Amino acid sequence: MVRMGTLPLRLLALRYGADIVYTEEIVDKKMVRTKRVVNDILGTIDFIDEFDGSVVFRTCNEESSYVVFQVGTSDPELVVKVAKIVEKDVAGFDVNMGCPKEFSIKGGMGAALLKQPDKVKDILTSLVSNIAIPVTCKIRLLPNIEETMDLARTIQSCGVAAIAVHGRTKEERPQHPNNNEAIKKIAHDLSIPVIANGGSKEIDSYEHVLRFRTATGASSVMIARAAQYNSSIFRKEGKLSLDEVIPEYLRLCIEYDNVFTNTKYCVQMMLRDLQETPMGKRLLDSKTEEEIYKIWGLLDYYKKKQEEFKNLSLKLQMTLPSMGHLEPAHKRAKTESTFFSRVCENDDVIKVMIPLRKPYQKHILPKTVLHEHASKAQHRKKINVLASRQQHWLVCTP
Ligand SMILES: Cc1cc2nc3c(=O)[nH]c(=O)nc-3n(C[C@H](O)[C@H](O)[C@H](O)COP(=O)(O)O)c2cc1C
Ligand SMILES: *[C@@H]1O[C@H](CO)[C@@H](O)[C@H](O)[C@H]1NC(C)=O
Ligand SMILES: *[C@@H]1O[C@H](CO)[C@@H](O)[C@H](O)[C@H]1NC(C)=O
Repeated sequence: MVRMGTLPLRLLALRYGADIVYTEEIVDKKMVRTKRVVNDILGTIDFIDEFDGSVVFRTCNEESSYVVFQVGTSDPELVVKVAKIVEKDVAGFDVNMGCPKEFSIKGGMGAALLKQPDKVKDILTSLVSNIAIPVTCKIRLLPNIEETMDLARTIQSCGVAAIAVHGRTKEERPQHPNNNEAIKKIAHDLSIPVIANGGSKEIDSYEHVLRFRTATGASSVMIARAAQYNSSIFRKEGKLSLDEVIPEYLRLCIEYDNVFTNTKYCVQMMLRDLQETPMGKRLLDSKTEEEIYKIWGLLDYYKKKQEEFKNLSLKLQMTLPSMGHLEPAHKRAKTESTFFSRVCENDDVIKVMIPLRKPYQKHILPKTVLHEHASKAQHRKKINVLASRQQHWLVCTP
C-alpha cells in the first residue's frame, strides 16, 4: 500500500505470520533511474534515485524470499528494465492493474490497463520471458463477469505465476461490498493460484481471513486495510493490541532508520480512532523522530542505534572512500518519501508534493529542491505553490 508498505511494516507483517508481502506501488519511471547500493550501515539494499539521492526502495535479507516488488507501468520495455534492476533482491514482481487513482489512469497505468488486453499481454509476456523470478499481477473487476474472466484468462496465458483479484470495479469504493462471488468464479476457472483481495471490511481476526478465503475459493488472501490498522491480523494465535504492535513497529523503524514522515504517517494510520486521545495528539504534534519514539518509551533505543550507525558510517567511510563525497548513507536515506515521493512530471509541468508539516532541515527548502529539479529538466524557473485540500504542491511551469 502506498506509503504504508515500506520496509518496517513489511517486516512486521512477516514476523506476525504473513507468507508474502508487497511493496507499495512504485512507478516504473521513478524506479528506472535508481541505482542499487549496498548499505552496510543498516544491512540493507537501497535503490537510490540518482537524481536527488532519495531512497526509492529499501529491502533486506530477512524479506528477500518473501517480498514482491509492485510496479506501476504502461510500458512493456521500461518495465523490463525496472524488473532487471530489482530481480536479484526480491521474490516476485507484480504489476498493479487495479489502481483507480487519477495519476495512474492518466498515465495509462493501474486500472487503465484493464481495458487494454493487448497492452497487458505485451507487458506480462515481456516480463515473463525476460526475468527469472515469478511475475504476478493484481486486477479489479470489470463491470461484467464474462469480460473479467476473459481478461483473467488472457493474463493466465501470459505465463504469470498468480493473479490477485480485488472484488470491486474501478468505480467502486472501499465501502461498497466486495464481490466474493466474482472472485470465486475466476478462481474456479483458472488453473493458476488466485489471490483474493478486498475483504478487509469483514476481517477482524485470523478466522475471518480463513472465512474470506473459503468464500472466494481462492488459494490465498491478500489483506490491505486490516493489516494497515493492525498488522498482527496475520497471527494465527490471534491479534495483539496496538500497545504491543506500535512499539514493535517503531523498533523496526529505528533499526532501519525509517524516514520520520513515513513513520509518523504509518502510526497515524494505525491509531485511527485513537487520534483524538492524548497519545494521538502528541503524535500529531510531533515534528521529529525523537518526539515519536519518546511517546512510546523508545528514545534511548533510538539514540543508541543512531550512535551505532554514526560509528559504523565513520568506520565504513574509511574503507569505502567512494561514499566519502556523499552524506553518510543513513543520513541520505532520510529523504525517502519526503520531497520526491510525489513528483509528477510531464513536458510542461513538474509538480512536487510537499508535506504539510515537514521540519525542513538545514538549507534544503522545497523551493530549492524544485529549482534544482527544474534546471536539470531545463525548465524556466517559474515556481508556484498550489495548495489543494490535503496536499501542497510546488508547481513549475515552462
Ligand atoms: C492507503 C491505501 C493505499 C493503497 N496502495 C496500494 C498499492 O500501492 N498497490 C495496490 O495494489 N493496492 C493498493 N491499495 C489497494 C489495496 O491493496 C486493496 O486492493 C484494497 O484496499 C482492498 O483490500 P482490503 O479490503 O484488504 O483493504 C491501497 C489501498 C489503500 C487504502
Ligand atoms: C488491533 O487488534 C486489537 C486486538 O484485537 C484490537 O483491540 C484493536 O482494536 C485492533 N486495532 C485496530 C486499529 O483495529
Ligand atoms: C561509538 O563510538 C564511540 C567512540 O569510539 C564509543 O564510545 C561508543 O560506545 C560507540 N557507540 C556504539 C553504540 O557503538
